[in-house]
Amino acid sequence: MNDTPIDYKIVKRKIEESNLISLSKATIREIKKLIDKIEKATGEKYIRMEMGIPGLPPAKVGVDAEIAALKKGVASIYPDIQGIHELKKESSRFVKLFLNVEVDPEGCVPTVGSMQGSFAAFIILNRMYEKKNTVLFLDPGFPVHKQQLNVLGQKWETFDIYDYRADKLRVKLEEVLSKGNISSILYSNPNNPSWICFTEDELKIIAEAADKYNAVVLEDLAYVGMDFRKDLYTPGRPPFQATVARYTDNYILFISSSKAFSYAGQRIGMMVISDKLFNRKCPDLNKYYSSDKFGYAMIFGTIYPLSAGVTHSAQHALTAMYKAANNGKFNFVDIVKEYGEKAKVMKKLFTDNGFYIVYKTDVDEPIADGFYFTIAYPGLTGEELMNELIYFGVSAISLAITGSERTEGIRACVSSVQRDQFPDLEYRLKKFYENHPVKKPQL
Ligand SMILES: Cc1ncc(COP(=O)(O)O)c(C=O)c1O
Repeated sequence: MNDTPIDYKIVKRKIEESNLISLSKATIREIKKLIDKIEKATGEKYIRMEMGIPGLPPAKVGVDAEIAALKKGVASIYPDIQGIHELKKESSRFVKLFLNVEVDPEGCVPTVGSMQGSFAAFIILNRMYEKKNTVLFLDPGFPVHKQQLNVLGQKWETFDIYDYRADKLRVKLEEVLSKGNISSILYSNPNNPSWICFTEDELKIIAEAADKYNAVVLEDLAYVGMDFRKDLYTPGRPPFQATVARYTDNYILFISSSKAFSYAGQRIGMMVISDKLFNRKCPDLNKYYSSDKFGYAMIFGTIYPLSAGVTHSAQHALTAMYKAANNGKFNFVDIVKEYGEKAKVMKKLFTDNGFYIVYKTDVDEPIADGFYFTIAYPGLTGEELMNELIYFGVSAISLAITGSERTEGIRACVSSVQRDQFPDLEYRLKKFYENHPVKKPQL
């Protein structure tokens, strides 16, 4: 183990200094901090696959609009909590043109990243009906959602969808939802970390189960437009982004601008509440809010005390990005296709060197190439793999923190890895392979 691409002693010391009990239980940001320190101490650049920082420049149309808005003086003015008029209008158009779903602009509400959107949703959803106090995660998923529920002291349940695809999903949802305690069902589509994309049939199954048991579907579209098997930049024409919203009127969509528009730094996303849910009355909300109307309680009772709205200039940026995309002038999908292309090359580098893909199929086809993929190494647990790879200059996060039952694996994010690092990645993986001979199964 001393013959590692990164200085063994320094890496070991930095891990000890980090006081992390286990790398596989560390959060994404904790791993990021540790790798920053190792890079500084060794002068070596890592293959950074732990965090989904967009590896592309921010959309120019957004930056220009934001600068113009700042120059006009919006920085001194509190923005309306429900969002500026033009942004609400363009968001509703975006949902119509790219998802083929009608929603009133009133239900399109900006949030400080999707992150704040889910936090606000959890606060209110688990209080709508006294007995419904639990979120169901269709895992694996984004670990921070569970962190949010932890700090709120709220409950969740989970199952790993890999074992419950297609019709098996109906049976499993029936089993969990029939207990009556589930307020909402959360999943990301495409899925972080596995890149599974639910089929239209599966989305119908989720919609039907949610309607039957009065649970709200929380569809996290952090990677909107990024199922690169289809060209999803066709404003107003099919194919559309797959969404549950075509099958139920009982949903909240979280549309992040972080990845699709490379706008993560400005912390803005949209929460899109279906018309029916927005206007729904829930008497139990009166305990916490001045109104029992869901949409009103969300905006004036939940988003208001969290941040009193979203940065004014960022709202102008997002308006401009949506408007350009809606008008056929900003093909954001073409730009982010780069992630899928990098994933293809990186997956091959891993699989050529002894690794295998953990979530490898999407119902009956190979998993698509996208922003993330999941990998494992024969004979090593996810924890052991992370503990070893870190000495080889490769960082990732463990699937153990994603709600995955496949704890042998890790999640690789392609966004921050630059193409000129591929030779380094190949060299490090070759070294890893040499150092970790794979035992052939006994016949
Ligand atoms: C599935 C998922 N949801 C939400 C987020 C957070 O998005 P935002 O930057 O809009 O808060 C991410 C970011 O990586 C994500 O992967």
